[in-house]
Amino acid sequence: MSETVDNIQETDSATMEPPAEPLSQPLTIGVEAYLSEEYARAERDKLWAKVWQQVGRVEELAKTGDFLTYEILDDSLIVVRTAPDTVRAYYNVCSHRGRPLVDVPPGAHDARGRRRLFVCGFHGWRYNLEGKCAHVAEREDWPCGLTEENTSLTEVKVDTWGGWIWINLDPECRPLREYLEPAATLLDPFELENMRFRWRCWLVFDCNWKVALEAFMETYHVPGTHPEFMSFGSFLGWAKAQGRHSNIGYDAPKGLDENQAKLRLGSGDDPRVSTAELQNFTWEHANTNTTRTLVDAAQRLVDELPEGTPADQVLKHWLDSARRDDAARGVNWPTVDPVDIGRSGTAWQIFPNFQIGHALNNMLCYSARPYGYDPDKCVFEAAVYELYPPGEEPRTTWEYTPADDPAWRTVLPQDFSNMAAVQKGMKARGFSGPKPNPYRERSIVNLHHNLATYMGTGEPRDLT
Ligand code: FES
Ligand SMILES: [Fe+2]
Repeated sequence: MSETVDNIQETDSATMEPPAEPLSQPLTIGVEAYLSEEYARAERDKLWAKVWQQVGRVEELAKTGDFLTYEILDDSLIVVRTAPDTVRAYYNVCSHRGRPLVDVPPGAHDARGRRRLFVCGFHGWRYNLEGKCAHVAEREDWPCGLTEENTSLTEVKVDTWGGWIWINLDPECRPLREYLEPAATLLDPFELENMRFRWRCWLVFDCNWKVALEAFMETYHVPGTHPEFMSFGSFLGWAKAQGRHSNIGYDAPKGLDENQAKLRLGSGDDPRVSTAELQNFTWEHANTNTTRTLVDAAQRLVDELPEGTPADQVLKHWLDSARRDDAARGVNWPTVDPVDIGRSGTAWQIFPNFQIGHALNNMLCYSARPYGYDPDKCVFEAAVYELYPPGEEPRTTWEYTPADDPAWRTVLPQDFSNMAAVQKGMKARGFSGPKPNPYRERSIVNLHHNLATYMGTGEPRDLT
C-alpha cells in the first residue's frame, strides 16, 4: 500500500502534477476485519491494548471520588477523580483473587458513583483512591508476603483532551496529544471542552463495530439513505486521510467557501426560506446538528432580510444573529477562522472508534466498540452536545435506546437500517469486498490502512 502511494507521488512530481491525496486511488478491503472471529479476538491485544480510547467526559467526574467504569472486551477499568485536578484509572480487579471491585449492573451502560474506598465484595480487601491496598483482613497470615507492589491496583494511562477522558492500556504508549494530531490542533479552536451533553443514547447493533462507524464517516450515503435531505441542498463532500485519523466535510459551493461547515445554508432560489426549512427539518427529525437558537434565528431570516439577499449574506446574517442571541443568554461561541472551519470539515474520525462531529456551538459524536468477541455485534453510542449558560446544563444519563425507539426520530434510524444488512451482505459468497469511493469515502480506506498496521493483516488492495 505505502509503496503504491510512493509510486504515485513520484510519478506526480515527475510530471509536475500536484501530489495525489494519500489513498486517493481506487482500493478494496477484505471482509476479514468485519466478519472473522479470529480477527475479532486478535483485536484484543493488537488493537484495543494499544490505542487511546475515549471513556467519558471530564465533567462526569466532578468531585473527588467520582468514578465510572469502562469495559473493553475482557478488561474493565475504574476511572476515578483522585484529586480536584487528577483523574486516574485502574483495572477493575481485586489483587487478591481477581474479583472485580465494582460490578456493572446487568444491562447498564456502566457503573458509577462516588467513593473514598473500593471494597472487594469477596473477602473485603480495601483500596484507596490512589489504588493502594488499605486493608487486608488477617494480613499477618502473609508474613512479609504482601507488599504495596503486589497488592496495589494496576494503573492505566489516562489523559484528557477536548473535555474527554481518554485511557490507554499500553504502558509504553505515546502521549495522547501526539496521538491525536493533527485532529487536536485543528479542533482546539472549537473549544469542545466547553460543550455539555444534550442527550446521549446507546444500543447494541447486529454488526461489527467498523460497520457501525463507517456508516457515519462519509457523505456518499446521503442521497441513498436520507433522500429527503437532497431537497434542501447538497450534502455531498470530501474525505481526507489525516495520518491515523481522517476527516470529512462538505464540498463548498462555488464562491461560498464558508458554507462547508455543519451550520450551512439551504439551497434554491431563496436561501432565507430554505435555510429555515432545513433547520426545522433537522431539529425535528434528526434532533442533532443544530440548536434551538439556530433554528429560531433561521425562522426570522425572511423578516430580517430583503428578498434577493445573496446567499453569503444570508449565511452571515443567520450565524451572526444566532451568535448574538446566544451571547445575550451567556453562551459564547468560540471565534474560529473561516479557513480553519473549512479545513476542519464537519467530522473527525479518531482512530480507531470515535467520531467527533463538531460545530461552533454543538456537536454530535459516535463511538462503537466490540460486544464480546462476536464480530457480528457491537456497542454503539451517540451523544449530542451543546453550549449552555453556566449552570443550565441538562442532567443526562446513558439511555439504552433500541433502534426502533421513537426517541431516535427518523434520520438516524435510516442509518441504523443499513447496519445488520451490511453485516449480512458482506457474508454473501457473491460479494468481493467493499470498494469505498476514493474521494467521498477515503476515510474508510484510511481506517483499514491504519488497522492493518496494528493488526498485521487487512491492508486495502488495489482495486484494478
Ligand atoms: S478477591 Fe477481593 S478480597 Fe478476595
Ligand atoms: Fe447518515
